[in-house]
This record gives sequence, C-alpha cells and structure tokens, in this order.
Amino acid sequence: NYEAKVDSLMKLMTLQEKIGQTVMYGGSWDQTGPIIGTNNGKYIREGNMGAMLNAFTVKGTYDLQKVAVEETRLGIPLLFGYDVIHGHRTIFPINLGMSASWDLKMIEESSRIAAEEASAEGLHWTFAPMVDIARDPRWGRVSEGAGEDVYLVSQIAKAYVKGFQGDDLSKHNTILACAKHFVGYGAAQAGRDYHTVNMDEGELRNVYLPPFKATVDVGVETFMSAFNELNGVPTSGNKFTLRDILQDEWGFKGFVVSDYTSINEMIPHGFAKDSLDAARIGMNTGVDMDMMGSVYRKYLKKLAEQGKVDETTINEACRRILLAKFKLGLFDDPYRYIDKKRETETKYKPEFLAKAREIAAASSVLLQNKDQVLPFSKSTKSIAFIGPMVKDEYDILGNWAAQGDRKGQAVSVFEGVSEYLKSHQMLYAKGCDILNDDESGFSEAINISKKADVIVLVMGEGHHMSGEAASRTNLKIPGIQPKLIETIREANPNKKIVLVLMNGRPINLSDEVNLVDSILEVWFPGTMGGAGVADVLFGTHNPSGKLTVTFPRNVGQVPIYYNMKNTGRPIPDNNPTEDYKSNYIDSPNSPLFVFGHGLSYTTFKYSDLELSSSTLRFTGEIKASATISNTGNRGGHEIVQLYIHDKVGSVTRPVKELKGFQKIFLKKGESKVVNFTITAEDLKFYNSEGNYTVEPGEFEIAITPSSDFKFKHTFTLE
Ligand code: IFM
Repeated sequence: NYEAKVDSLMKLMTLQEKIGQTVMYGGSWDQTGPIIGTNNGKYIREGNMGAMLNAFTVKGTYDLQKVAVEETRLGIPLLFGYDVIHGHRTIFPINLGMSASWDLKMIEESSRIAAEEASAEGLHWTFAPMVDIARDPRWGRVSEGAGEDVYLVSQIAKAYVKGFQGDDLSKHNTILACAKHFVGYGAAQAGRDYHTVNMDEGELRNVYLPPFKATVDVGVETFMSAFNELNGVPTSGNKFTLRDILQDEWGFKGFVVSDYTSINEMIPHGFAKDSLDAARIGMNTGVDMDMMGSVYRKYLKKLAEQGKVDETTINEACRRILLAKFKLGLFDDPYRYIDKKRETETKYKPEFLAKAREIAAASSVLLQNKDQVLPFSKSTKSIAFIGPMVKDEYDILGNWAAQGDRKGQAVSVFEGVSEYLKSHQMLYAKGCDILNDDESGFSEAINISKKADVIVLVMGEGHHMSGEAASRTNLKIPGIQPKLIETIREANPNKKIVLVLMNGRPINLSDEVNLVDSILEVWFPGTMGGAGVADVLFGTHNPSGKLTVTFPRNVGQVPIYYNMKNTGRPIPDNNPTEDYKSNYIDSPNSPLFVFGHGLSYTTFKYSDLELSSSTLRFTGEIKASATISNTGNRGGHEIVQLYIHDKVGSVTRPVKELKGFQKIFLKKGESKVVNFTITAEDLKFYNSEGNYTVEPGEFEIAITPSSDFKFKHTFTLE
C-alpha cells in the first residue's frame, strides 16, 4: 500500500522538504558527460530538488542519486525525466510519421523499446506522449503528435502510454509517461508556437480533451501543463482544466509538471503580477511540479507563511510526486535503474533496429504513383539519387531525437538503397542544400539525371524546421529545392521521377504533383530510416501508411481538416465554385491530399456496406460490415476506415467523423469481411449545455479507404 508509505514518510518531512519534491532542474554537463554541477549539488543536498530533466546515463544518474540518497536528511531519491519522444537511442520515425502506420501494436512496441533503452540509462520518466490535436501545419509541433483526428489521436495516445509504462511500473524497464501539453496547445492562433488559444467549451471537450482523457483511462501517471493561454487563462494556472476537469471530473491521481518555465510565463501572459504571484497561481491550480522555473523553490514557503497557499495544497502536490517514486520502486532501491551492464547491453539491440526499420517502412505514405513507377526492380539499370537528403544521416532522425546518434548510427537513404543496388547502378549528386540558395550544384545534378534510367529526389525540411518554436508561414519544400525539381524535370521531360520527402508537417506539394511521377512521404524516418525507405522503394515492403493530417493546396486554406462543419452554404457537388457559397474565389476548398489517403502497390475494392439493422436502440448495437478485396497483383495491408455523420444535432456536428479503423492484410486475390460494432456510446458528444450525450435521429455511415467519399447509407438512433 503505497499511500500508507507516503503518509508515513510525509510525517517526517518539513515543509521545505515537501516543497523540495515539487522542484525540477536540468542536469549539468561538461565534456566528460553529465556532472553534479554546483547549483544542482547544492539544491539536492539542501533537500530543495525532487526531480531532474536532461540528466541520464548510468554514471550521471548514479552520482546525482547518491547525493540525494546519502547526503540528505531523509534520503529521498530523485526522479530523472527526459524527452524520450520517438525513441531514446534507437530512433523511430517522428510521431506524426508513426501515426501514419495506424498500427497501434507497432506504436506500442516503439514506446516499449524506448522505455527499455531510456530506463537502462537511469531514466524514470519521459515527457511523452504529446497528445495535442494538431490541425494547423504551420505549427511546428504537428510533427510530435498523431495528427488531426480525435479518435485516432486518442487510440494512439493509449498505445504510447501502455508501451512506456508497461503493466508494472516497479519493473526496472518501465517508465512514467506524461500526457502533454494540457491543453489546447495545438490550436495556437495562426500556428505560431506559444500563441493565444480561444475556443468554446464544446470544441475543447469534443476535440482537444478526449486524447488526454484516453491517457487517464489507461493509467497515465503524469501530465504536463502547457505554455498557451486558453480563453484568457494560461493553462499552467488554469483551475478549470487542471482542477475541475483533470482532478474532479476525471479523477486523475498522478502529478502535473509544468512545461519549461511555463509557470513564470504567466507574468508576460499578463496573468500573474510577479514570480511570487505566479508560484501562488501555479500551485493553487494544481501544477504539482515546477520545471526549471525556480518559483516554487523560492516562494512556496513564503506563500504558505502568508496564507496564500494552503499547506495542504503543497502536501497534496508532494504526496502525488512521492507516490510516483514509490510506484517506480525507488524507495526499495534508488539505484534500480542504474545498472552499467544493462546500459551497455540495451542500446541499439538488433531487434530494436529491426523494429525501427519495419516501422519506418510502415509509416511511409505513397501519396502518388503515376504509371506504377514504384516499386523499382533491382535490375533497373541506373538510378540518379539527387537532393540534400540522399546521404543525410543527421536530419533523418527528425526533431526531439533524444540520444539518437546523428553521426554514424543512422542509415541514410543512399546507404539503405545500396542493399538493393550495385554501386555502378547508383549515381549521386547533392544538387543543393536544404535552405540556402546556392545553385552551383545544379549542373552536376542535371548531368547525372541525364545519364540515369530513373531519378529519385530526396528532399524536404531540415530536422530543426519542425518541433518546438519552428512555426512556418510557407508550407513549400524549403529553399531552392523546388527550383531543382523543376530544373531536373525540364532536363528530363520524359523520364520517371520519384520524390522521397522528409518533413515534419504537411507540405504544399501543388507544383510537385505535376512535376514528378511518384511521391513517397517518409517523414523523418529515424535511425533505420534509409533502410526502411529502401524496402518500400524496392517493394520488399508494400506501403500501407495513410495520412493522419490533411495536406493543403496552399497555406491560405489553413486550418483545413477533414471533419469540418458543413456551414449554411456548403458548395454544391456539381458546382463547387458557385457564387455566394462557402468557397474561395482563387482555390478549391478540397485539400491536395485528404486525411486517410495513402496508396499501395496493390489495389483494394470495397464492396457495398451492410448494416445489421437500420435502427440502433440506445442500449443496443448494430454491426456494419464491408467486404474488402485485394484486386491487384500482390499482398498488402489496407487501413479500413469507418466514418459516421450525425445529421442534425442540438449543436452542429462535423460532416464526418472517424469512429473506427482496422488494419488488415490481404493476399493477392483475397477478400475479407470487415466488421464494426456501433453503439450509442460511439455517437456521444458534448452538447451546448456541456452534457456528454447522444441525441436520437438519423446518422450516415460509410466504410472507406480514406476520408474522401460521399455517404450512401444511413441508420437511425431511437
Ligand atoms: O517536454 C518538453 C516540452 O514538450 C516543451 N518544452 C520543454 C519540455 C522539456 O524539455
């Protein structure tokens, strides 16, 4: 019984020691690796620090833990946290990429492996998963989430948490997960990071909160409050979201950490007068731990003495943090995650690398494949590989790549392809850099493009162009890369060109779709990225990834996502440009690539949907089924999607909503019946009174390969 143990420990603690547990600082490093550092050593010894970020490795964490355990009055162990976002040493594709696999088992396996590697280096806690819904590709952190859809992001969020935390936190290879950033961070105005967020409670509850609730349902141990304000109240001082919803409604028993100095940032937000005031608001609203802000360490005691923060509030925060330490088993053995042998043996295990390769391939999305240019055959005489990312082992890991080795360990596309082709079949020219405007490499690129049978362009964003503080107003492939594409096409009007794209957000490919034949979106595919991409290019892996975020035609369409509202003047199917309808005068409404889109090297046929009944009772269920047939020439996975539309509601409902999906494998010529069960629970939403409810009426339903379809079937709920 951990609660009783926490109680007995807390009876021995002074107020200052309890406050110490709510304080987190960053690890110090010198050339030799992590060191104790003057301030950190001092704070730990004084009992003024309960957790650290960015301190890891067996040596680093051992030295620090020893100070906490042996040189403080009560010997309370430290908690070591780190951003293990898409892998720790073995780096998987960026999270947006992994989401495109729609493969919950694989995603869980990735976070299980990440936990294995991270815990073997002394880490107890990751600041992941990011479960923010992201519908604005200008926002750089789109790359860290699972896209735009509520249902899919929620399922993926659960998979990550299960992988990180495992089934028993006291095992030495499981770590605490952290659902972040609570909440609404992805809805920042104009896609600018840290920016203002305004939304009504209905949208908050129907769209932005469900993925967080999903993590609570599977026992996530920690939450991170966000940087943004929400309807005028910063989310690191927001009683409504942190106390009323998270604690009271959802019964969350874990602890909340602030984002990096997000408590202090309530001052420039214009919500707190000064640091003292910020500490008061943060603690009173339920932010249990102060990441890097120093305000809890400096002011909580004073605030308690002044009666501005109740001691019971500090006790509660301390209790939640200690509970996590007990659950991890740190009081049984503070060094249980610190094991030199395990550290050496656990990095880059062959099975981890094999999984990373498989996931890189499964995350790739074949956006376009004119004339079935892909897959290549090994006997293709020669391929010209052109572009700044062909040999890139650096950007290929993407942003937030934890301790992924960007020099040496990562497999570039060129290296990956060399498993399939002999060196004389591979021509190479860099052509240009990702960002600068030096065209001096163009002539060499043109030269080799003319010599080759086929051309593969490997291009995209630098890894630092997405992630935190990486918002963009231009969604084109950056720099002069688009010009290089045009130049190569002009020089080779009749040659097949494949574009392999690495990027952390939806890119505007309106020009490129006409210039190249095939487009393979591989995101930042990670340590084994080049090998996984080569598996797709040569058909060892038949691509099955589908977009989890809409690709716009131009930045003016943003925000654009598949489940928007209909408006009172929707565009007619037969006349999308009709005047006085909800459209643009200079662009179609439709995106370039829709949510759920992704091609395969085979083809699938969906037969008409069948419903077990046309009436769903409130306490009953109906089954929807469709037959999916593989009509092409090879086996392949297909992601079968279920969409529903609530036609009339007391508040308007989206035009379609994903309510289920299944990833199936079909051999050549094989057919399978795919079944979904629908209950009234699946149709619930928050109405204008804030009630989570379902309303009787007519619903449309479809089982489809992407979100681009028209409904043909209905059922009624009564
Ligand atoms: O976990 C991150 C968060 O996502 C953004 N700010 C910094 C934190 C710790 O590195």
